[in-house]
Amino acid sequence: MPLCLISLQNSNFNTINLMKSIVLNETGLSIQDCELPFVGVDQSKVEISCASLNHRDLWITKGQYAGIKYPIILGSDASGYLNDQKVLINPSTNWFNDPIGQPKDYEIIGLPRDGTLRQEGIFNNNLIHSIPEHLTMEEASALPLAGLTAYRVLISRCKVKSGDKVLVTGIGGGVALFAAQFAIALGAEVWVTSGDDSKIQKSLELGVKGGINYKIENWHKQLNLQAGGFDVIIDGAAGQGFSHLLSLANAGANIGIYGGTTGKIEGLSPQILFWKQLNIHGSTMGNHTEFSQMLKLVSDFKIRPVIDSIYHLNDFQKAFDRMDSGKQFGKIIISLK
Ligand SMILES: NC(=O)c1ccc[n+]([C@@H]2O[C@H](COP(=O)([O-])OP(=O)(O)OC[C@H]3O[C@@H](n4cnc5c(N)ncnc54)[C@H](OP(=O)(O)O)[C@@H]3O)[C@@H](O)[C@H]2O)c1
Repeated sequence: MPLCLISLQNSNFNTINLMKSIVLNETGLSIQDCELPFVGVDQSKVEISCASLNHRDLWITKGQYAGIKYPIILGSDASGYLNDQKVLINPSTNWFNDPIGQPKDYEIIGLPRDGTLRQEGIFNNNLIHSIPEHLTMEEASALPLAGLTAYRVLISRCKVKSGDKVLVTGIGGGVALFAAQFAIALGAEVWVTSGDDSKIQKSLELGVKGGINYKIENWHKQLNLQAGGFDVIIDGAAGQGFSHLLSLANAGANIGIYGGTTGKIEGLSPQILFWKQLNIHGSTMGNHTEFSQMLKLVSDFKIRPVIDSIYHLNDFQKAFDRMDSGKQFGKIIISLK
């Protein structure tokens, strides 16, 4: 077993403290004993309690992500303990407060450097935050990457405001659920789409006004009849369905794209785009200021992340399979204890 392989590749290691980690190499995922890296300047050691999965982790295991290297400890999200303090980790490194976008040395924890699916980790102090008091460790681990992405696309980019009518596509997803919860907290009327009627039903319990199954023919026309137009549309799917979003947009609407789960956008009508004076915003992750603002929003409105399921470290494969099935509603958590 390559006890030191990962650590040596990432350099700066000088201890023999071993911890269990979920490691991806050319043959797939496995649990390995790895060395804990050396604690550098302006860094701290965090004992990790829980990590949540993001679709990014799955794309990486499938080889469908830029810059994949082996071996790598996956995972971008974590909650844990810094001494006795309950903390969570901002996965968005080196992007301090530029509102435009990330710097050249920007990285997301979990690729290219080792991530959070391990029992202990060393993190830059400026990425370590106190956990909002109302959250459990499991809920806290659900928050960082998806919450940050939702905050930036919805609030910084699409400038949602009270009274707006908002459509969030694919409500079963981690980012989509945070976008819906944040928009509701800020006084918007939220509608959703999903490929699963039961997920739409569950979202109503969160305060969503209504929704439609995107697998129904002409779903966009039916949604238009039910809900009318939208001021803000948040989408992580792109693909063939995206052009329908333009027909659902009110004049001057803000449309935010944070993902491309169903591939390239096809059939986009320039006429609808310019005639309705639409704004399409690409958005990725968020800066340190936005991360703090996101935590404040969650604290102020006592927002609780939706947890789909919790798996023990030893059952990590079931967690990845659950995400691959697309059946989840909310975040999939791995307990590292
Ligand atoms: N740019 C960034 O910073 C960033 C950050 C996070 C995620 N992402 C990307 O955003 C996407 C979602 O990530 P996640 O972690 O939230 O994923 P996730 O939790 O695995 O959820 C998958 C999502 O895909 C939706 N979906 C599948 N087919 C769809 C379709 N035809 N139309 C509309 N929605 C569809 C699902 O909706 P239902 O289950 O309701 O059908 C669900 O919302 C991924 O592509 C991911 O790589 C980007």
